[in-house]
Amino acid sequence: MAPTLTRRHPLFFAEVAGVDLSGPMTRAEFAWIQAAFDEHAVLLFRDQNIDDGDQVAFSAHFGPVQQTTNYAWRDETRRLRPDVTDISNIDHQGRIQGPDDQRRQNYRGNLLWHTDNSFKHVPARCSLLSARRLPATGGDTEFADMRAAWDALPEARRAELSDLVVEHSIFHSRALLGFTDFSETARAELPPVRQVLVREHPGSGRKALYLASHAARIVGWPASEGRALLNELTAFATREQFVHRHVWREGDLVVWDNRCTMHRARPFDDMNEARVLHRTTVSDEINTVERRRAQGA
Ligand code: OGA
Ligand code: MN
Repeated sequence: MAPTLTRRHPLFFAEVAGVDLSGPMTRAEFAWIQAAFDEHAVLLFRDQNIDDGDQVAFSAHFGPVQQTTNYAWRDETRRLRPDVTDISNIDHQGRIQGPDDQRRQNYRGNLLWHTDNSFKHVPARCSLLSARRLPATGGDTEFADMRAAWDALPEARRAELSDLVVEHSIFHSRALLGFTDFSETARAELPPVRQVLVREHPGSGRKALYLASHAARIVGWPASEGRALLNELTAFATREQFVHRHVWREGDLVVWDNRCTMHRARPFDDMNEARVLHRTTVSDEINTVERRRAQGA
């Protein structure tokens, strides 16, 4: 069956049918998906009966699959292989994590609007999230189109923003949640990094705001002014017209483009119900400031 594509939002987010992610995929088949991805920024594949091996193999078509970083805890009891991130509220014995579990604290960071790994020197290009077990209600994921947000800004505003550079840190987003209990070693492993505020997407040529809860300050600006601008832009870019809410079904796989979208988890009854998703993360090629410099812009 030839793949088909159905828009689920006027600006971005499309559902692909007629693709089975559990088997190998030819380059031609993937080229179709890549083109759809470049245009729609988030793709949904439903009813996929896949295991972690299938997910990693599909992810590798998009680029290098990253190993998971454990900055919050030293995990001797990992549930999943190192190239699959455990987006769940259960422990290695299948029990719901306790209220003080560091993994639970860390997961709460996903409730803030963000793009994955902008706090790494080379951030994530895309992430793939597969729904394995879901709560009866809640636990949706929202996505926001940062290309549409950029397009909607007045011309004069865009000119002011174009060259700005932003410092991102995982410890900034975690501090916003009151989660500051990190060792010096953990902090030293993930020092603040610089990213451009406005990215140009190589696949579509479209510009996009590059924002995240990890964005801490504008380089060269007084802290409070930088924070005010980042807050204002985030509020603007996540207005209702730019946002699509995905209500998960078991067997869904969603791939989003971290270069031009943000996302956030929505709450659910996480003390009583299990929610288990497996994430693979594909790395970008180069730090965004270095890319801009290399392009002579
Ligand atoms: C992620 C993430 C949101 C969610 O996996 O990167 O932010 O709804 N997940 O679990
Ligand atoms: Mn995320």
